[in-house]
Amino acid sequence: MNEIKRLSPEAEARLNQGLLGLWYPVLPSWAVQGTPVGITRLSRNIAIWRDADGAVHAIEDRCPHRGARLSLGWNLGDRVACWYHGIEVRGDGVVASVPAVQGCPLEGQKALPAYAAKEIEGAIFLYFPIADEPPPPLDLPEEMTSDAYSRMLCTAHWKCNWRYAVDNVMDPMHGAYLHAQSHSMAEGDKQAEFRTRKTQTGLVFEKTGQMGVNFDWVEFGNSGAIWLRLSIPYRRKFGPGGPFTIVGFVTPVTETSCRVFFWRIRKVQGWQRHVWRFLYRTRLEGLHWQVLEQDRVVLEDMAPRAREQEYLYQHDVGMSRVRRILEQEAARQVAHA
Ligand code: FES
Ligand SMILES: [Fe+2]
Repeated sequence: MNEIKRLSPEAEARLNQGLLGLWYPVLPSWAVQGTPVGITRLSRNIAIWRDADGAVHAIEDRCPHRGARLSLGWNLGDRVACWYHGIEVRGDGVVASVPAVQGCPLEGQKALPAYAAKEIEGAIFLYFPIADEPPPPLDLPEEMTSDAYSRMLCTAHWKCNWRYAVDNVMDPMHGAYLHAQSHSMAEGDKQAEFRTRKTQTGLVFEKTGQMGVNFDWVEFGNSGAIWLRLSIPYRRKFGPGGPFTIVGFVTPVTETSCRVFFWRIRKVQGWQRHVWRFLYRTRLEGLHWQVLEQDRVVLEDMAPRAREQEYLYQHDVGMSRVRRILEQEAARQVAHA
């Protein structure tokens, strides 16, 4: 069952660093306030700041003069100024001023790549182009966009390659084992049969015999961003809104680390929304962190080169399909490079 078809080293590197041509959440919105922030995503250093209107700007975090990190410098609104010798670079990557020298030819040059930015539901998304193409629209699942739902963002840094974090979500069966002691996944069969079903944007991987008891299905989609969706039933004592939906994103940081973004969602309005948000903040969020920590502990300590020495079985078919989709995309991207 474990089909091994080797990717070229270039495609493997592209996949490990992160596929391009996609939007990725990179930071929660609250993390960018007055001063520029330096981050690494998809193995690139990026400087992010807000202008006076609150709009987000993102450029490569490297001063075109001698390479100091621009994120260490000053926020001048539409520009940042390098701390080292004062060069000012605009949000589109063009050098606005070289204050130490008169008439420096660097002024007016586009010196750095810039990233298109959007803010959605409390997170900053950046577009990582393949070449220089304009960003495509970003169509997220309705739980992320419709007013009928109430969303809470949870984000964490994990010291594992992003592909393992995607594998983990594409693997519903771990709910009944790894999270067996949790508030939401203590019930249901310890064995299951699965099937895959195609969707417009990807696929659903679901149990054939059990629905609405545990982590019983998961969906992979690519619609401008790669997202994962799943739902977990909630017992009545956890308040109004029925099942608990999670829409998740995994953003590569380096080849050995990633940042996960999970929106925790319920279909609640009016007073029920207040009840759910209150319950979440006071009680459920802590319980969910315990669950997420179980995932993190396992994923950060997988065997070296785990993926190359696996024995996969029927429960791993959904994960294998998604791996194949991602591998094909990586191969396509490096072939066009
Ligand atoms: S390194 Fe930035 S101005 Fe010199
Ligand atoms: Fe998990």
